[in-house]
Amino acid sequence: MSAPSSTARTYRITALAGDGIGPEIMRVGRAVLDAVAQQMGFALQWQEGLIGGAAYEQTGDPLPAETLKMAQESDAVYLAAVGDFKYDTLPPEKRPERALLGLRAGLGLFANLRPVKVFPQLVGASSLKPEVVLGIDLVVVRELTGGIYFGQPKGIFTDAQGSRRGVNTMVYSEAEVDRIARVAFELARKRRRKLCSVDKANVLEVSQLWRERVNVIAADYPDVELSHLYIDNAAMQLVRWPKQFDVILTGNLFGDILSDEAAMLTGSIGMLPSASLGSSGPGLYEPVHGSAPDIAGQDKANPIAQVLSGALMLRYSLDQPQAADRIEQAVEAVLAQGYRTPDIYSEGMTLVGCQEMGEKLVAALSQQQAQ
Ligand code: IPM
Ligand code: MG
Repeated sequence: MSAPSSTARTYRITALAGDGIGPEIMRVGRAVLDAVAQQMGFALQWQEGLIGGAAYEQTGDPLPAETLKMAQESDAVYLAAVGDFKYDTLPPEKRPERALLGLRAGLGLFANLRPVKVFPQLVGASSLKPEVVLGIDLVVVRELTGGIYFGQPKGIFTDAQGSRRGVNTMVYSEAEVDRIARVAFELARKRRRKLCSVDKANVLEVSQLWRERVNVIAADYPDVELSHLYIDNAAMQLVRWPKQFDVILTGNLFGDILSDEAAMLTGSIGMLPSASLGSSGPGLYEPVHGSAPDIAGQDKANPIAQVLSGALMLRYSLDQPQAADRIEQAVEAVLAQGYRTPDIYSEGMTLVGCQEMGEKLVAALSQQQAQ
């Protein structure tokens, strides 16, 4: 068992709970992180910021300037979820989702890592056959600050005759492709050295350039086996035989879609964490799932994706890999003990709510410590 480090460090973390189930899963995430910090001899200094609908209600802005500033000045940003049906009719710039895009852009977080790992205890929770999902271990590397999410021109335009057109632009510069490709190749190097780049180069020019640049960058990584798939085929391969994938590299929109699909392989999107990184500055850690307003405040949410996002934060931004391992082991232990939130429940297991799941995780951490 490792001893706590002698120099106690304090990290400044911005906590953005947001909307829907955000506050309840954030509470669990923070409790687990505080528990592991105490065990390992470092401290987390939390500062809470407003984001999404919650921020809009109080300030009229889903991403107040103070929140972005607070985030920029912290060691890492820990976010839960934003969005609610009740904001669907707001103008685009006031919608909670805009806050997320603003935060990603404002922090320069161009690389979104979404690891998809199947816990053996949950194989039965997947809609696919056990032999298809058992052993899945892949990462989606999604470009996060470019592509059709940000390309100009964008908007809804009215012509002289009064007819309207909705416009978005899918655009990638060489430099944008190069830097995200390098992130994916470096990651593949630390894993099973397989990289699959996903595009739509049979139809889209933006994808032709994407593919060309990925091939150029590949020359620096001869030890990584590179393949290319079109997005439609990739979506199919992901449910046909997901274990063929190690690292999947793709653009913003394709990555958004593929990562939800990949999440479901694990049985529940409530299990999937993500890390968003820039070339410098704080990273952002958030679950892949959304704010689930339909179950908000009912203690039904699965906090595990939030908790595992905390583990990624420890590993990538705070350089506390042992603490990250401990959290991941605690999740495995609690699943092995049979505790399940409703989204991953199956017969014979013990049904728990969000809060109780958190208590079990903290208990599992102290059991590890005692061993
Ligand atoms: C995600 C979400 C966001 C996205 C939304 C909420 C803006 O779906 O993080 O995958 O599309 O990027
Ligand atoms: Mg998404």
